Amino acid sequence: PAEAVPQAPEDALFGLMRAYKADESPSKVDLGIGAYRGDDAKPWVLPVVKKADEILRNDPNLNHEYLPIAGLASFTSKACELLLGPSSPAISEKRVTSVQTISGTGAVHLGALFLARFFKVNGANRTVYLSNPTWANHNQIFENVGIPVATYPYFDKKTKGLDIEGMKRALVDAPDHSIILLHACAHNPTGVDPTPEQWREIAEVMATKKHFPFFDTAYQGFASGDLDRDATAIRYFVEKGFELVIAQSFAKNFGLYGERAGCFHFLASPSPDAAGITTRVASQLAILQRSEISNPPIYGAKIASTVLNDKALFAEWQDNLRTMSGRIIDMRKALRSKLEELGTPGTWNHITDQIGMFSFTGLSEKQVLRLRDEFHVYMTKNGRISMAGLNTRNVDYFAKAVDKVVRA
Ligand code: LMR
Repeated sequence: PAEAVPQAPEDALFGLMRAYKADESPSKVDLGIGAYRGDDAKPWVLPVVKKADEILRNDPNLNHEYLPIAGLASFTSKACELLLGPSSPAISEKRVTSVQTISGTGAVHLGALFLARFFKVNGANRTVYLSNPTWANHNQIFENVGIPVATYPYFDKKTKGLDIEGMKRALVDAPDHSIILLHACAHNPTGVDPTPEQWREIAEVMATKKHFPFFDTAYQGFASGDLDRDATAIRYFVEKGFELVIAQSFAKNFGLYGERAGCFHFLASPSPDAAGITTRVASQLAILQRSEISNPPIYGAKIASTVLNDKALFAEWQDNLRTMSGRIIDMRKALRSKLEELGTPGTWNHITDQIGMFSFTGLSEKQVLRLRDEFHVYMTKNGRISMAGLNTRNVDYFAKAVDKVVRA
């Protein structure tokens, strides 16, 4: 009975968003949720998305019918090419199947559900290893479907970079055939990615241990500003012949947050039965999808598909991506130089060394709470800031606030 239902805590990130909105201070700064903002601190509808929107609205054949269970094929096929490269043998050999999902969260969920159903060892679920730290939602998505969660070291507090040795050790110690969740690029929350050489080392350990890679990619185009370069890690694992899955979000790189456009991809390793395996997996994913959401939402997928299937619009999208990643890089430089100019105790090179939407500042929970209470600056308790929340008007204010809480 409902009397027995205990009160759950509010979601930390969305709670932060609510608290920011309720704050009436004119100097408030939102560095919480990972959503791009322009220099005017407002959401930015990508110009290319506006164009695609126009095209769709002027299409006399536009309707609101159901999509197929696996989603819009013109969207999922291009989404797959974006990750693997259009000439990937995995595509021509029919080793990959793609399902449109409720953005990245839905993709991680569908993947987790699929693995819980079909990847058991002796009747028990395999454990998924998440980076420490990781996107907070990862934990509960896997726990929800009964997959045990463990962590591998990732962030080195001393260097504010990657703890590659700790990570490799944990991968060696994990039972064979574990599921390893990897952020393909622009790691959330740390902004720290492995170098190409470190990816090679990670892949080598994972191959020896027969681990299963579960890639999460929500920031393609945000890390380097180059879509292909940001897919390097995934392409390397595919080249090495891993069987793997990928959860892909278009929330950030298209600015389609609330439209929930994403994909889940399963990729079989090369074998004579690979195409057969892929077909069978696709059939099971269709059943899971049907029982959960029937079929995915149409609008965001149509917007993305319009852009992905048109050469000129695609080029314009790349330009829009460079605008976003370029502004973020400018803010990294501005914040670092301001802190150095103020002589704020500590080193601040990590602000410009880290990449993507976030910076893991190294500020303590106590300092974060003081920033909120005294300066109306909103960031997650782990010290993560969304760089896109900074702009030419508030970066000095933020740097001075950081300087104060670091000194006191
Ligand atoms: C974030 O980490 O800020 C974003 O991925 C938003 C979310 O859904 O948590």
